[in-house]
Amino acid sequence: MLVTIRIEKGWDIRHATQVATLYEEAFGAKFQRAIPDKKQRILVLSKSFVTEFSFVAYSDDKIVGLSGFNVREGSLTGGIGAKGLIHQLGLFAGLWASAVFSLFERTPKKGELVMDGIAVDSDYRGQGIGSQLLDQIILHAQDNGFNSVRLDVIDSNPRAKKLYESKGFVATKVESFPYLKWLVGFSGSTTMILDLSTLKSLAKAINSAAGAVSQTRLAN
Ligand SMILES: CC(C)(COP(=O)(O)OP(=O)(O)OC[C@H]1O[C@@H](n2cnc3c(N)ncnc32)[C@H](O)[C@@H]1OP(=O)(O)O)[C@@H](O)C(=O)NCCC(=O)NCCS
Repeated sequence: MLVTIRIEKGWDIRHATQVATLYEEAFGAKFQRAIPDKKQRILVLSKSFVTEFSFVAYSDDKIVGLSGFNVREGSLTGGIGAKGLIHQLGLFAGLWASAVFSLFERTPKKGELVMDGIAVDSDYRGQGIGSQLLDQIILHAQDNGFNSVRLDVIDSNPRAKKLYESKGFVATKVESFPYLKWLVGFSGSTTMILDLSTLKSLAKAINSAAGAVSQTRLAN
């Protein structure tokens, strides 16, 4: 099924349950121990979204993919804290979820944009939507003066890793934690970074080389 896709920054919070369902389909296994009940996971996710920190892909009016980011000003899933979790789940379940979620927390460094999840509806994968969503994040980072984009990819996700490598992300750290698999659903992850300053100097070099070629042509 080939479809026409439109990518937009931000989205109407009315779509929160639909987006949460999509996000849960992609990342539910990671949050299963934190919030065992799927309905509750979707509810909590839907309450956590701050939509301005994401891009979404529409096929007609249906959201079929999203890519979130985390910067010093906020993040896609940063709209719910320990208090909100306790409010939604009750005292003990809320405290437990909050403790498990803290293991996934990634604080952006100065000049750094951190990815906060990328997911495409399973019926729409393999058509370039994930690639377009990632391009938008990279463009956003470039346009807003960030020096780098950082993400973590779990050891059992070669498909996503391939996508990141195709955009120039480079693995900088590999972590192994088999003793945590029961809790977080995976036993290791790789940190990947896209250095935007390298891209900038590459673009500069290409531009000046192109300029030199056209000057030579003019001189001839
Ligand atoms: C990862 C994900 C977002 C990719 O979305 P997508 O729309 O299918 O990706 P695209 O169609 O744009 O493909 C982009 C690249 O991904 C890789 N890819 C796509 N389908 C693949 C497949 N079946 N096998 C291996 N690699 C594949 C390829 O590198 C591809 O580039 P290519 O088309 O030049 O070969 C999607 O698979 C997904 O939602 N997965 C679940 C959530 C997830 O794992 N997110 C990443 C967390 S780090």
